[in-house]
Amino acid sequence: MDVLMLKGGASLKGDVNISGSKNSSLPIMAATLLTDDTVVLKRVPNLRDTRTMIKLLQSLGKEVDYKDNTLTVKAGKKAGYIADYDLVSTMRGSFCVLGPLLGKLKKAKVSLPGGCVIGIRPVDLHIKGVEALGAKISVDGGYVLATAPKLIGNEIFLGGVFGSSVLATANVLMAAVLAEGETVIEFAACEPEIEDLTEFLIEMGANIEGKGSPRLKIKGVKKLKGITYEIIPDRIEAGTYILLAAATRSDLTIKNANLKHLFALVDRLNQAGVKVYAEKNGDIKVSTSKKFKPVSVTTYPYPGFPTDLQAQFMAFMATIEGVSIISDKVYPDRFIHIAEMNRMGADIRREGTAAIVQGVKKLHGAPVMASDLRASAALLIAGLMAKGTTEIHRIYHLERGYEDLEDKLLKVGAKVWREKEK
Ligand code: EPU
Repeated sequence: MDVLMLKGGASLKGDVNISGSKNSSLPIMAATLLTDDTVVLKRVPNLRDTRTMIKLLQSLGKEVDYKDNTLTVKAGKKAGYIADYDLVSTMRGSFCVLGPLLGKLKKAKVSLPGGCVIGIRPVDLHIKGVEALGAKISVDGGYVLATAPKLIGNEIFLGGVFGSSVLATANVLMAAVLAEGETVIEFAACEPEIEDLTEFLIEMGANIEGKGSPRLKIKGVKKLKGITYEIIPDRIEAGTYILLAAATRSDLTIKNANLKHLFALVDRLNQAGVKVYAEKNGDIKVSTSKKFKPVSVTTYPYPGFPTDLQAQFMAFMATIEGVSIISDKVYPDRFIHIAEMNRMGADIRREGTAAIVQGVKKLHGAPVMASDLRASAALLIAGLMAKGTTEIHRIYHLERGYEDLEDKLLKVGAKVWREKEK
């Protein structure tokens, strides 16, 4: 296994091109199961997670071609309905084949995704939603088996203990588009990735009102057609590079991203004294001339501050003089990165559901362990801020969500390289 080596301290300069969104691509790829027509998806990032979804689609009978970020999905000889443990256990996003399989084939057998380091992550809302449409659910041998002679529209409240759920909304929406009659999803997730999925389904011929809102009204249609569709930019990748620019006081231009999807981040950065703005052509600039102030952040479902940028924001706050408090209301236990950042000289402690960050003068390079995708991105930012050399172990996490990471970093002058694990 490779170790990612970083030599920190340099200021970076240049353009970073943002890829298509991972978390849009995964449910949209799953939604191709809703039609036998050919679907062409553009701007699908080449990542471990999208490659896993390709394997899953193939295991479900689709023929898939993937070249230069363009994915073509065609019907194969026989459609399958079983999503195997091997593919679902490595990536929770795979669970979103439940809705489309059920919608199209009226049966689905999908492995339960299990726990992961960012928290327990149950699937009760997914099940509640498809049950409301008439599916019979049983759980056996670690699999959810869902069957329905037909799905019938219903009113479904999808709010959970932590608010709305992105993938539960995706699953219920995808099951409802081919159901009989009208479905209303109340407390639907409003994340841009769900808006993107909704737009994709509408273009395929689905009848959905309320795109991007917490109330989705779906009138079932008989059939969906194949289309060509382009995935939106990855707001979390863009946010990560914006935070990298702020944290390393660098002059980066973030290209092909959408700043409108990052209001909450921009608000917090403005409070901290960082100016982030979009130029006329859409390029995002980060101005880092001022002395920064510590600011507190609480994550919420969209349009709140994204949990997927919490760790990276913490890395930025780690060297800002003063105290900032960081809480995660989406995944209250998503704090494994604290211990690793403290190995680099940060002064962060967890108190209940919050992390208290006491800014230090400098971080210093150290060997650290990546625990999940976004925690790894935070260690990367910390490593590029730090004095000396940082070794990030278990970098396969980063490969799940950041396309061409090393190339993009090298292009703006970062000192990064790979070594073999000793
Ligand atoms: N939850 C429940 N019951 C459910 C489903 C979720 O209680 O049935 C809880 C979760 O445990 C969590 C909260 O609801 O506390 C929100 O979870 P959500 O279901 O929205 O998360 P998800 O759909 O499984 C997606 C992203 C995550 C991102 C979250 C939150 C994909 C493939 N994954 O997960 O992305 O953190 O939404 O925005 O879209 C990442 O990219 O690194 C990542 C983890």
